[in-house]
Amino acid sequence: MKSFQDIKEILIAGGGLMGKNIAFVMTQNPQFHVTVYDLFPTDVEAGIRTSTKQLVDGGYVSEAELAERLSRIYFTTDMDDPAIAKADLVIEAVFEDMKVKRETFAKLEARVAEDCIFCTNSSVMSPSEISAELKHRERFVGTHFWNPGHLIPLVEVIKTDATDDGVAETVMEVLSSVGKKPCLCKKDVPGFIANRLQHALWREAISIVEHGIADAETVDTAIKNSFGLRLPQLSALENSDLVGTQLTWNIHSYVLPALEDSHEPSPLLKKMLDEGKLGFKSGEGFMKWTPEQIAKCNADLNAYLIHMLYERKQ
Ligand SMILES: NC(=O)c1ccc[n+]([C@@H]2O[C@H](COP(=O)([O-])OP(=O)(O)OC[C@H]3O[C@@H](n4cnc5c(N)ncnc54)[C@H](O)[C@@H]3O)[C@@H](O)[C@H]2O)c1
Repeated sequence: MKSFQDIKEILIAGGGLMGKNIAFVMTQNPQFHVTVYDLFPTDVEAGIRTSTKQLVDGGYVSEAELAERLSRIYFTTDMDDPAIAKADLVIEAVFEDMKVKRETFAKLEARVAEDCIFCTNSSVMSPSEISAELKHRERFVGTHFWNPGHLIPLVEVIKTDATDDGVAETVMEVLSSVGKKPCLCKKDVPGFIANRLQHALWREAISIVEHGIADAETVDTAIKNSFGLRLPQLSALENSDLVGTQLTWNIHSYVLPALEDSHEPSPLLKKMLDEGKLGFKSGEGFMKWTPEQIAKCNADLNAYLIHMLYERKQ
Protein backbone atom coordinates (compact mmCIF):
# COMPACT_ATOMS: atom_id res chain seq x y z
CA MET A 1 0.00 0.00 0.00
CA LYS A 2 1.12 3.56 -0.64
CA SER A 3 2.50 5.51 2.29
CA PHE A 4 2.38 9.30 2.65
CA GLN A 5 5.82 9.75 1.02
CA ASP A 6 4.58 7.93 -2.12
CA ILE A 7 1.71 10.36 -2.70
CA LYS A 8 2.52 12.96 -5.34
CA GLU A 9 -0.17 12.79 -8.02
CA ILE A 10 -3.68 13.61 -6.82
CA LEU A 11 -6.69 13.09 -9.05
CA ILE A 12 -9.97 14.86 -8.34
CA ALA A 13 -12.80 13.14 -10.24
CA GLY A 14 -15.60 15.71 -10.65
CA GLY A 15 -14.73 19.40 -11.00
CA GLY A 16 -17.92 20.95 -9.60
CA LEU A 17 -18.34 23.08 -6.50
CA MET A 18 -16.58 20.65 -4.15
CA GLY A 19 -14.06 19.26 -6.65
CA LYS A 20 -12.63 22.68 -7.51
CA ASN A 21 -12.24 23.71 -3.89
CA ILE A 22 -10.71 20.35 -2.95
CA ALA A 23 -8.25 20.72 -5.84
CA PHE A 24 -7.18 24.11 -4.44
CA VAL A 25 -6.82 22.65 -0.94
CA MET A 26 -4.61 19.81 -2.15
CA THR A 27 -2.12 22.27 -3.68
CA GLN A 28 -1.35 23.54 -0.18
CA ASN A 29 1.21 20.72 -0.06
CA PRO A 30 3.92 21.74 -2.58
CA GLN A 31 4.72 18.07 -3.32
CA PHE A 32 1.27 17.49 -4.84
CA HIS A 33 0.34 17.85 -8.50
CA VAL A 34 -3.41 17.83 -9.01
CA THR A 35 -5.41 16.65 -12.01
CA VAL A 36 -9.11 17.48 -12.16
CA TYR A 37 -11.20 15.21 -14.35
CA ASP A 38 -14.78 16.04 -15.32
CA LEU A 39 -17.13 14.79 -18.02
CA PHE A 40 -17.69 18.38 -19.12
CA PRO A 41 -15.24 21.23 -19.81
CA THR A 42 -15.11 23.54 -16.81
CA ASP A 43 -12.98 26.55 -15.95
CA VAL A 44 -11.31 25.28 -12.80
CA GLU A 45 -9.10 28.36 -12.45
CA ALA A 46 -12.05 30.76 -12.64
CA GLY A 47 -13.96 28.70 -10.08
CA ILE A 48 -11.04 28.68 -7.65
CA ARG A 49 -10.41 32.40 -8.17
CA THR A 50 -14.05 33.11 -7.30
CA SER A 51 -14.13 30.97 -4.17
CA THR A 52 -10.77 32.26 -2.89
CA LYS A 53 -11.48 35.96 -3.66
CA GLN A 54 -12.10 36.88 -0.01
CA LEU A 55 -8.84 35.13 0.99
CA VAL A 56 -6.84 37.02 -1.63
CA ASP A 57 -8.56 40.37 -1.02
CA GLY A 58 -7.91 39.98 2.71
CA GLY A 59 -4.22 39.24 2.10
CA TYR A 60 -4.42 35.71 3.58
CA VAL A 61 -3.31 34.16 0.28
CA SER A 62 -1.06 36.25 -1.97
CA GLU A 63 -1.70 36.52 -5.71
CA ALA A 64 1.73 34.93 -6.28
CA GLU A 65 0.86 31.95 -4.05
CA LEU A 66 -2.50 31.52 -5.76
CA ALA A 67 -0.87 31.63 -9.22
CA GLU A 68 1.77 29.07 -8.19
CA ARG A 69 -0.88 26.77 -6.74
CA LEU A 70 -3.08 27.09 -9.82
CA SER A 71 -0.07 26.18 -11.98
CA ARG A 72 -0.02 22.76 -10.28
CA ILE A 73 -3.63 22.01 -11.28
CA TYR A 74 -4.26 20.36 -14.63
CA PHE A 75 -7.73 19.75 -16.11
CA THR A 76 -8.90 17.01 -18.44
CA THR A 77 -12.16 15.57 -19.78
CA ASP A 78 -10.36 12.49 -21.13
CA MET A 79 -10.47 9.40 -18.92
CA ASP A 80 -7.57 8.01 -20.99
CA ASP A 81 -5.35 11.02 -20.33
CA PRO A 82 -1.95 9.74 -19.01
CA ALA A 83 -2.36 12.04 -15.99
CA ILE A 84 -5.20 9.81 -14.79
CA ALA A 85 -3.24 6.55 -15.01
CA LYS A 86 -0.43 7.92 -12.84
CA ALA A 87 -2.67 8.97 -9.92
CA ASP A 88 -1.46 7.97 -6.46
CA LEU A 89 -4.65 9.07 -4.75
CA VAL A 90 -8.11 9.82 -6.13
CA ILE A 91 -10.76 11.97 -4.47
CA GLU A 92 -14.10 11.48 -6.20
CA ALA A 93 -16.58 14.39 -6.15
CA VAL A 94 -18.97 13.57 -9.01
CA PHE A 95 -22.78 13.81 -8.73
CA GLU A 96 -24.36 12.33 -5.62
CA ASP A 97 -25.61 9.27 -7.49
CA MET A 98 -24.66 5.69 -6.59
CA LYS A 99 -24.57 4.47 -10.20
CA VAL A 100 -22.44 7.40 -11.40
CA LYS A 101 -20.01 6.99 -8.51
CA ARG A 102 -19.68 3.22 -8.99
CA GLU A 103 -19.14 3.62 -12.74
CA THR A 104 -16.51 6.30 -12.15
CA PHE A 105 -14.54 4.10 -9.76
CA ALA A 106 -14.86 1.06 -12.06
CA LYS A 107 -13.37 3.09 -14.93
CA LEU A 108 -10.62 4.38 -12.66
CA GLU A 109 -9.80 0.92 -11.33
CA ALA A 110 -9.21 -0.25 -14.89
CA ARG A 111 -6.69 2.56 -15.44
CA VAL A 112 -4.72 3.28 -12.26
CA ALA A 113 -2.16 1.26 -10.28
CA GLU A 114 -3.39 -1.43 -7.88
CA ASP A 115 -2.19 0.54 -4.88
CA CYS A 116 -3.68 3.90 -5.88
CA ILE A 117 -5.85 5.07 -2.97
CA PHE A 118 -9.54 5.75 -3.64
CA CYS A 119 -11.55 8.32 -1.64
CA THR A 120 -15.17 9.37 -2.09
CA ASN A 121 -16.45 12.76 -1.01
CA SER A 122 -20.07 11.59 -0.82
CA SER A 123 -21.83 13.49 1.94
CA VAL A 124 -24.41 10.81 2.74
CA MET A 125 -23.87 7.67 0.70
CA SER A 126 -22.10 4.71 2.26
CA PRO A 127 -18.47 4.25 1.09
CA SER A 128 -18.92 0.49 1.66
CA GLU A 129 -21.79 0.52 -0.82
CA ILE A 130 -19.99 2.75 -3.35
CA SER A 131 -16.95 0.44 -3.29
CA ALA A 132 -18.93 -2.83 -3.17
CA GLU A 133 -18.11 -3.92 -6.74
CA LEU A 134 -14.43 -2.94 -6.80
CA LYS A 135 -11.65 -5.51 -6.97
CA HIS A 136 -9.49 -3.78 -4.36
CA ARG A 137 -11.85 -2.59 -1.66
CA GLU A 138 -9.02 -2.36 0.91
CA ARG A 139 -7.77 0.84 -0.78
CA PHE A 140 -11.10 2.65 -0.40
CA VAL A 141 -12.21 5.23 2.22
CA GLY A 142 -14.73 8.01 2.51
CA THR A 143 -13.26 11.52 2.76
CA HIS A 144 -16.11 13.84 3.61
CA PHE A 145 -15.05 17.44 3.05
CA TRP A 146 -17.46 20.15 4.22
CA ASN A 147 -18.66 23.07 2.16
CA PRO A 148 -16.96 25.53 1.63
CA GLY A 149 -14.27 22.92 1.10
CA HIS A 150 -11.39 25.41 1.01
CA LEU A 151 -12.34 26.84 4.42
CA ILE A 152 -13.94 24.23 6.70
CA PRO A 153 -11.08 22.29 8.34
CA LEU A 154 -12.88 19.01 9.07
CA VAL A 155 -12.60 16.06 6.73
CA GLU A 156 -14.20 12.88 8.02
CA VAL A 157 -12.21 9.82 6.97
CA ILE A 158 -14.64 6.91 6.92
CA LYS A 159 -13.46 3.32 7.07
CA THR A 160 -15.53 0.68 5.33
CA ASP A 161 -15.76 -2.94 6.43
CA ALA A 162 -12.79 -3.63 4.10
CA THR A 163 -10.54 -0.55 4.45
CA ASP A 164 -6.90 -1.29 5.23
CA ASP A 165 -5.80 0.56 8.40
CA GLY A 166 -2.65 1.76 6.58
CA VAL A 167 -4.75 3.35 3.83
CA ALA A 168 -6.83 5.28 6.36
CA GLU A 169 -3.61 6.43 8.09
CA THR A 170 -2.05 7.59 4.81
CA VAL A 171 -5.19 9.54 3.89
CA MET A 172 -5.19 11.18 7.35
CA GLU A 173 -1.53 12.21 6.81
CA VAL A 174 -2.27 13.55 3.33
CA LEU A 175 -5.15 15.65 4.68
CA SER A 176 -3.09 16.96 7.62
CA SER A 177 -0.35 17.94 5.18
CA VAL A 178 -2.76 20.32 3.41
CA GLY A 179 -3.93 21.92 6.65
CA LYS A 180 -7.13 19.96 7.17
CA LYS A 181 -8.32 18.40 10.45
CA PRO A 182 -9.01 14.79 9.49
CA CYS A 183 -11.18 12.81 11.92
CA LEU A 184 -11.40 9.03 11.71
CA CYS A 185 -14.91 7.59 11.60
CA LYS A 186 -14.29 3.94 12.51
CA LYS A 187 -17.66 2.68 11.29
CA ASP A 188 -19.52 3.38 8.07
CA VAL A 189 -22.77 4.69 9.57
CA PRO A 190 -25.31 7.14 8.06
CA GLY A 191 -24.28 10.74 8.76
CA PHE A 192 -20.76 9.65 9.81
CA ILE A 193 -19.85 11.77 12.88
CA ALA A 194 -20.58 15.44 12.33
CA ASN A 195 -23.86 15.19 10.40
CA ARG A 196 -25.27 12.84 13.06
CA LEU A 197 -24.51 15.54 15.62
CA GLN A 198 -25.72 18.39 13.43
CA HIS A 199 -29.03 16.74 12.52
CA ALA A 200 -29.74 15.69 16.11
CA LEU A 201 -29.69 19.45 16.83
CA TRP A 202 -31.78 20.35 13.75
CA ARG A 203 -34.40 17.72 14.67
CA GLU A 204 -34.82 19.29 18.11
CA ALA A 205 -34.76 22.84 16.68
CA ILE A 206 -37.55 22.03 14.20
CA SER A 207 -39.52 20.21 16.90
CA ILE A 208 -39.39 23.28 19.18
CA VAL A 209 -40.90 25.39 16.36
CA GLU A 210 -43.44 22.68 15.46
CA HIS A 211 -44.68 22.48 19.04
CA GLY A 212 -44.99 26.26 19.45
CA ILE A 213 -42.31 26.46 22.15
CA ALA A 214 -40.48 29.23 20.26
CA ASP A 215 -40.41 30.62 16.72
CA ALA A 216 -37.60 29.88 14.26
CA GLU A 217 -35.72 33.15 14.79
CA THR A 218 -35.84 32.71 18.55
CA VAL A 219 -34.45 29.17 18.29
CA ASP A 220 -31.47 30.40 16.26
CA THR A 221 -30.95 33.38 18.58
CA ALA A 222 -30.88 31.00 21.55
CA ILE A 223 -28.32 28.75 19.85
CA LYS A 224 -26.06 31.57 18.66
CA ASN A 225 -26.02 33.30 22.05
CA SER A 226 -25.42 30.30 24.29
CA PHE A 227 -23.68 27.02 23.56
CA GLY A 228 -23.23 27.96 19.89
CA LEU A 229 -20.96 30.81 20.91
CA ARG A 230 -18.68 28.67 23.02
CA LEU A 231 -18.64 25.51 20.86
CA PRO A 232 -15.39 26.33 19.00
CA GLN A 233 -13.67 26.64 22.37
CA LEU A 234 -15.60 24.14 24.52
CA SER A 235 -17.27 21.30 22.68
CA ALA A 236 -19.89 18.80 23.83
CA LEU A 237 -17.85 16.21 25.67
CA GLU A 238 -15.35 18.72 27.04
CA ASN A 239 -18.36 20.61 28.39
CA SER A 240 -19.78 17.44 29.92
CA ASP A 241 -16.48 16.92 31.75
CA LEU A 242 -16.46 20.58 32.80
CA VAL A 243 -19.90 20.40 34.43
CA GLY A 244 -19.18 16.84 35.54
CA THR A 245 -20.48 13.50 34.37
CA GLN A 246 -22.75 13.27 37.46
CA LEU A 247 -24.57 16.46 36.43
CA THR A 248 -24.73 15.23 32.84
CA TRP A 249 -26.38 12.04 34.13
CA ASN A 250 -28.85 14.02 36.25
CA ILE A 251 -29.80 16.36 33.38
CA HIS A 252 -30.20 13.49 30.94
CA SER A 253 -32.36 11.53 33.39
CA TYR A 254 -34.73 14.50 33.60
CA VAL A 255 -34.64 15.96 30.06
CA LEU A 256 -34.07 13.11 27.59
CA PRO A 257 -37.61 11.69 27.96
CA ALA A 258 -38.94 15.09 26.82
CA LEU A 259 -36.72 15.48 23.74
CA GLU A 260 -37.75 14.82 20.15
CA ASP A 261 -36.97 11.23 19.19
CA SER A 262 -38.87 10.89 15.92
CA HIS A 263 -37.34 8.63 13.27
CA GLU A 264 -39.18 10.49 10.52
CA PRO A 265 -38.64 14.02 9.16
CA SER A 266 -40.88 16.54 10.92
CA PRO A 267 -44.47 17.02 9.64
CA LEU A 268 -43.73 20.75 9.77
CA LEU A 269 -40.93 20.27 7.25
CA LYS A 270 -43.29 18.31 4.97
CA LYS A 271 -45.91 21.08 5.21
CA MET A 272 -43.29 23.66 4.25
CA LEU A 273 -42.23 21.59 1.22
CA ASP A 274 -45.87 21.26 0.13
CA GLU A 275 -46.27 25.04 0.42
CA GLY A 276 -43.14 25.68 -1.70
CA LYS A 277 -41.21 27.13 1.24
CA LEU A 278 -37.79 25.85 0.16
CA GLY A 279 -35.50 28.26 2.02
CA PHE A 280 -33.01 30.45 0.12
CA LYS A 281 -34.15 28.82 -3.14
CA SER A 282 -37.72 30.24 -2.90
CA GLY A 283 -37.03 33.20 -0.60
CA GLU A 284 -38.85 31.61 2.34
CA GLY A 285 -38.23 28.64 4.60
CA PHE A 286 -38.34 28.87 8.37
CA MET A 287 -37.74 32.60 7.78
CA LYS A 288 -38.19 35.01 4.86
CA TRP A 289 -35.10 35.90 2.77
CA THR A 290 -34.54 38.72 0.29
CA PRO A 291 -31.80 38.27 -2.38
CA GLU A 292 -29.72 40.88 -0.48
CA GLN A 293 -30.07 38.97 2.80
CA ILE A 294 -29.06 35.74 1.05
CA ALA A 295 -25.93 37.33 -0.46
CA LYS A 296 -25.06 38.90 2.91
CA CYS A 297 -25.57 35.60 4.75
CA ASN A 298 -23.13 33.80 2.42
CA ALA A 299 -20.53 36.61 2.49
CA ASP A 300 -20.78 36.98 6.28
CA LEU A 301 -20.29 33.25 6.74
CA ASN A 302 -17.12 33.25 4.63
CA ALA A 303 -15.81 36.35 6.44
CA TYR A 304 -16.53 34.72 9.82
CA LEU A 305 -14.81 31.46 8.81
CA ILE A 306 -11.77 33.35 7.52
CA HIS A 307 -11.61 35.33 10.77
CA MET A 308 -11.86 32.16 12.88
CA LEU A 309 -9.30 30.29 10.80
CA TYR A 310 -6.73 32.96 10.08
CA GLU A 311 -6.99 35.49 12.91
CA ARG A 312 -8.14 33.61 16.00
CA LYS A 313 -5.31 32.80 18.37
CA GLN A 314 -4.79 29.02 18.20
N1 LIG B 1 -22.15 20.72 -2.14
C1 LIG B 1 -21.94 20.40 -0.87
O1 LIG B 1 -22.25 21.14 0.07
C2 LIG B 1 -21.22 19.11 -0.55
C3 LIG B 1 -20.61 18.96 0.71
C4 LIG B 1 -19.92 17.78 0.99
C5 LIG B 1 -19.89 16.77 0.06
N2 LIG B 1 -20.51 16.93 -1.16
C6 LIG B 1 -20.44 15.82 -2.11
O2 LIG B 1 -19.51 16.14 -3.13
C7 LIG B 1 -19.91 15.52 -4.37
C8 LIG B 1 -19.98 16.59 -5.44
O3 LIG B 1 -20.86 17.61 -5.02
P1 LIG B 1 -20.84 19.07 -5.68
O4 LIG B 1 -21.68 19.92 -4.80
O5 LIG B 1 -19.46 19.46 -6.01
O6 LIG B 1 -21.65 18.77 -7.03
P2 LIG B 1 -21.56 19.54 -8.44
O7 LIG B 1 -22.82 19.21 -9.14
O8 LIG B 1 -21.19 20.98 -8.23
O9 LIG B 1 -20.33 18.84 -9.17
C9 LIG B 1 -20.37 17.53 -9.65
C10 LIG B 1 -19.44 17.48 -10.86
O10 LIG B 1 -19.33 16.11 -11.26
C11 LIG B 1 -19.29 16.10 -12.68
N3 LIG B 1 -19.67 14.75 -13.10
C12 LIG B 1 -20.88 14.18 -13.08
N4 LIG B 1 -20.82 12.92 -13.52
C13 LIG B 1 -19.51 12.69 -13.80
C14 LIG B 1 -18.79 11.57 -14.27
N5 LIG B 1 -19.41 10.42 -14.56
N6 LIG B 1 -17.44 11.69 -14.43
C15 LIG B 1 -16.82 12.86 -14.15
N7 LIG B 1 -17.45 13.94 -13.69
C16 LIG B 1 -18.78 13.86 -13.52
C17 LIG B 1 -20.26 17.19 -13.10
O11 LIG B 1 -20.02 17.60 -14.44
C18 LIG B 1 -19.98 18.26 -12.07
O12 LIG B 1 -18.97 19.15 -12.52
C19 LIG B 1 -21.24 14.83 -4.08
O13 LIG B 1 -21.00 13.48 -3.80
C20 LIG B 1 -21.75 15.54 -2.83
O14 LIG B 1 -22.55 14.74 -2.01
C21 LIG B 1 -21.16 18.08 -1.48
